[in-house]
Order: sequence, then structure tokens, then C-alpha cells
Amino acid sequence: MITGGAGFIGSHFVGLIRKKYPHQPLVILDKLTYAGNLRNLKEVLNTPHTEFIRGDITDYKGTRRAMKDCAGLINFAAETHVDRSLKEPAPFINSNYVGTYNLLELARELHLESFIQISTDEVYGPCLEGAFNEEDSLKPTNPYAASKAAADLLCRAYWQSYQVPVTIVRSTNNYGPRQYPEKFIPTMIGKGIKNEPLPIYGDGKHIRDWIFVEDNCQAILLVWEKGMPGEIYNVGSDGQRENLNVAELILERLERSNELISHVPDRPGHDRRYALKWSKIKALGWQPRTSFDDGLKNTVKWYMDNPHWWV
Ligand SMILES: NC(=O)c1ccc[n+]([C@@H]2O[C@H](COP(=O)([O-])OP(=O)(O)OC[C@H]3O[C@@H](n4cnc5c(N)ncnc54)[C@H](O)[C@@H]3O)[C@@H](O)[C@H]2O)c1
Repeated sequence: MITGGAGFIGSHFVGLIRKKYPHQPLVILDKLTYAGNLRNLKEVLNTPHTEFIRGDITDYKGTRRAMKDCAGLINFAAETHVDRSLKEPAPFINSNYVGTYNLLELARELHLESFIQISTDEVYGPCLEGAFNEEDSLKPTNPYAASKAAADLLCRAYWQSYQVPVTIVRSTNNYGPRQYPEKFIPTMIGKGIKNEPLPIYGDGKHIRDWIFVEDNCQAILLVWEKGMPGEIYNVGSDGQRENLNVAELILERLERSNELISHVPDRPGHDRRYALKWSKIKALGWQPRTSFDDGLKNTVKWYMDNPHWWV
């Protein structure tokens, strides 16, 4: 079963697994929050062995019914926008923590053979120099990151206590087609296309390591195929950039002036820099294939070609 499969990363992953394993029975469960969209799945919904169920991972009984014939689970389902988590943490605690707890309990009850928890580099907190490896401590600084870190700790406990075969994947910031417009790169692209000011938090020197969504999905697939239960795999890229630089590159692609950049007050707990070491996933046989330039070109083109999707 794939939870959160109608969201940004989940839908790319569903497309990938459907292509590589066309005969694998697949149940996709998604609550279809504002961030989930069945249009993201239009190419796979009518393929054989594919079932979509609208459901909420915080609903134990409903999720159990959906999961009863499944051997494994990949959990993408989450509330994901940091700014929203600062305004209203409750849905983040419910979906990201309580929801993951339900899934772990179900995995224990139904004796699932595999469980991949999709996590994030934000659980480590800011990294002012160097890069974090999988054993580094978790120091989240906002409610979204804390809810994901709490879920990771619960996953670890269920592996240690009950041998629920959970593997955690922590990736850096994803970008690519179909990302919900509130996130940084689609916001910048949308404003740029409309020739409106691009709002940049603070001085814009915050650094993120951008990974193209399809590269991340290849890494998750590899973990599903070859990863070890109880292990954590960081998934990073070589795409470290300051936000300001990303905004400038987008404006360059759109042939717009840098004068559109507009600095706005920084948000609370805005981590200065994230960075990961990802030698473990590299040793499994993965590395990113898409350069930031190519990925950004592809993404800008997608948003320009699909205004109906995001305007
Ligand atoms: N986007 C990133 O840069 C990034 C980076 C690292 C990790 N992640 C993680 O990857 C996963 C997917 O992120 P995304 O960017 O695709 O998010 P997204 O917000 O685009 O999609 C999340 C999906 O989960 C669904 N969902 C939310 N709550 C649910 C619930 N209670 N029950 C069932 N479905 C529910 C939504 O409807 C949506 O389809 C998340 O766990 C996120 O923490 C994201």
C-alpha cells in the first residue's frame, strides 16, 4: 500500500513503481487534503491491479480495511508545509505522528513484510557546516519537522521493540512538476510567470540541497528493493543553493528582471542551512541523475505548460 500517493512525491513514486512493476497489486490510500489531487494519478488510476481508496491514516479501522491484503507499506502521507505548521500545529501532530503510530500498529497486527517511512532532512535541524549522517541527533526547530522526527523515533522503537521491519528514508528538499504551489520553487515560478514580486524570507541566504523528485523516487524504490529493515537512509544531492540564487535562476529562465525579488520578514525558526551525507544510499547503488539546471528547466517548463494546474 502507498499512503499519500496523490501528493507531490507520492504520485511520482506511484508512476515509477507502476512502470517498473506493472503486475504488482497496488493500493493507494490518500485523504485528498488540499495537497492531494487525483489528477496527479490520472495516468495510473485505470491501469490493472491499481486501486485508489480515499482514506485517512488517523482512522485505524478504515486504514485496516484498506490494508488487509497488503504485504508492505510506503508512507508518504503527511501534512508538509512548514508555514502552515507554525500557524496550526494540530493537523501535523495528528497526521504525521498519530497517523504513523496507527500504521506501525497495523504493520504489527498484520505482520507486514516491509514498511518504508518517508522522512525529511528537517528532522536533524539546521546544519551550519558539514553535513549530517544517519546517526546524528534530531533537533527539529518547527512543528512540521518535530512531528516528522517524533514519527521517526516511533518507527525506531517499533523496530527495536516489536521487530516491525521499518526503514526510514530522509531526503533533502524535493522539486519538480506537480508540487503544490505554496512551496518555495512553485511559488517563485508562479509569481515570476505572473510578473509579480517574488517574496524571499529575510536575506535569502538560507541554503537547501535541492533534489529532483524523480531522483528521490528512484532512491526510495531502491530502498524498497534492497534496503535493510531498521536502517535509515539519507538521500541528498549536490544541489546546495541559497534561496535567493534559486529565485534569480528562475527569473533568468523566465526572462524576467531580478527587480521582482522582494525581501519579506523572515519566518520564526527558519533553519539557515540543511545538508546531508548520503554515502549509505550511494553504497546501495543510487546517485542523483538530474543536475539542478536541468531539473529546474524541466520544472519551469512544466508550470508554464500547465497553468490550469496551479493558477
Ligand atoms: N516535498 C519535500 O521537499 C519533502 C522533502 C523530504 C521529505 N518529504 C516527505 O515526503 C512525503 C510527501 O511529501 P510531499 O511533498 O509529496 O507532500 P504533499 O503535501 O504534496 O502530499 C502529501 C499527501 O499526503 C496526503 N495526506 C495528508 N494527510 C493524510 C492523512 N492523514 N491520511 C492520508 N493521506 C494524507 C495528502 O492528501 C497528500 O496527497 C511527506 O511525508 C514529507 O514529509 C517531503
